Amino acid sequence: MARATPYLASLDLGSTRTRMVIATPVPDRARWTVAGYADVPSKGIRKGVVVSIEQAEETIRQCLTEAEKMAGFEIASVHASLSGLHVRGLNGHGVVAVSSRNRQITGTDIQRVIEQASAVNLPSDRGIVEVLPQEFVVDEQDGIGDPLGMLGMRLEVSVHIVTSPVTASQNIVTSANRLGIIVEDLTLGSLAAATATLTEEEREYGTAIVDIGGEITSLAVFQRGAVRHTAMFGIGGTHFTNDIAVGLRSPVPEAERIKQTFGCVFSSLLHPNERQEQLEVTASGGRSRMLSRQVLCEMLQPRAEEIFKEIQENLQKAGFEKKLSSGLVLTGGGSLLSGIPELAERMLDLPVRIGVPMGLDGLNEELRRAEWSTAIGLILSSIRPRANHYLRQRETSWRHWLAGIKSFFSSPNSAR
Ligand SMILES: Nc1ncnc2c1ncn2[C@@H]1O[C@H](COP(=O)(O)OP(=O)(O)OP(=O)(O)O)[C@@H](O)[C@H]1O
Ligand SMILES: [Mg+2]
Repeated sequence: MARATPYLASLDLGSTRTRMVIATPVPDRARWTVAGYADVPSKGIRKGVVVSIEQAEETIRQCLTEAEKMAGFEIASVHASLSGLHVRGLNGHGVVAVSSRNRQITGTDIQRVIEQASAVNLPSDRGIVEVLPQEFVVDEQDGIGDPLGMLGMRLEVSVHIVTSPVTASQNIVTSANRLGIIVEDLTLGSLAAATATLTEEEREYGTAIVDIGGEITSLAVFQRGAVRHTAMFGIGGTHFTNDIAVGLRSPVPEAERIKQTFGCVFSSLLHPNERQEQLEVTASGGRSRMLSRQVLCEMLQPRAEEIFKEIQENLQKAGFEKKLSSGLVLTGGGSLLSGIPELAERMLDLPVRIGVPMGLDGLNEELRRAEWSTAIGLILSSIRPRANHYLRQRETSWRHWLAGIKSFFSSPNSAR
């Protein structure tokens, strides 16, 4: 039986690992604490999207079983992450006349202007995932965060809109639904990770968060407290592992071990003695061979440069290269490869730090790591009031479909 007391649960379906966090409220403290969590290898997910519903269902089942066991109760709904190379971010703008006679701005005006800003023409196979208000303008006054109750004639808003193929969202929802789990909402993974890692100052003064996952790297730019730009790239930690596996003709698990234990992407960080250090690697067929750390580093560095070159070009094209006063925050498992922050700092000429999740009670050492940012951020995003709470549920096809599934499963705390 699912329990009647409140909980929040997240599902981060990653290309290499699937993670879940279950949180419960801390009495009287308006905070939430971790009650259970799990982390299992992903099957049926490629480049952030579900490619086999059966396998994704099995992956979620394993994760769910472990997390529920730790929490000591069953759950019936999750807040899930969305990713994939076909996710797109674009900016929109809307203007309406304030409707009331006394010219006081109401929730309905705000809702109307956001709806107008997000009325973009999309092909029928794409849907809007999120509409994130950036700022409002009342008559000539710009930079307004919340115009409710202000006086004015004309209300404008600029928004960031995230769109995704409808099938990508549907496949996540279906995989969870087959286990009787309702997907309450889908949030772009990098934005969830930002919720768990960025400070108020970073959001305000200009920061790019870069989530380096297994197969996807996602970028989101924050400035003046809002999301300004998002982008996805098809490179992640797996590429480094594959480069080693191919270069050394070693099995993938051995390549992964070598990468995590000895890998470095910035050779100037290594002391001359470290460069000459000889590593024993098991090649396919069981033979072993020796190589120096310097050679390993030369194998990995071009891939890391490829990632940051793409990010640099993307930021430049979007007009943010010189605007990121708070620099870059790297997160996701791929950011843990030694030398990544130093290389990024050198290539982009910006301050760089690794973002680890914060903001939930009960985060132990295992959870205070970059690969948990998205799963923890999903919980935090569902607690904090969303900027787009003014929006009515949009009549986009996948939300329509999601609503149908939700009503089928009736209440979020129904028994499975
Ligand atoms: N200590 C480490 N050193 C180097 N790489 C690491 C380390 N720990 C994890 N990784 C790499 O991080 C990657 C997985 O990161 P993460 O779990 O954030 O990805 P994911 O969410 O499964 O994938 P995606 O976000 O692309 O869908 C793997 O490629 C793994 O090799
Ligand atoms: Mg991820």
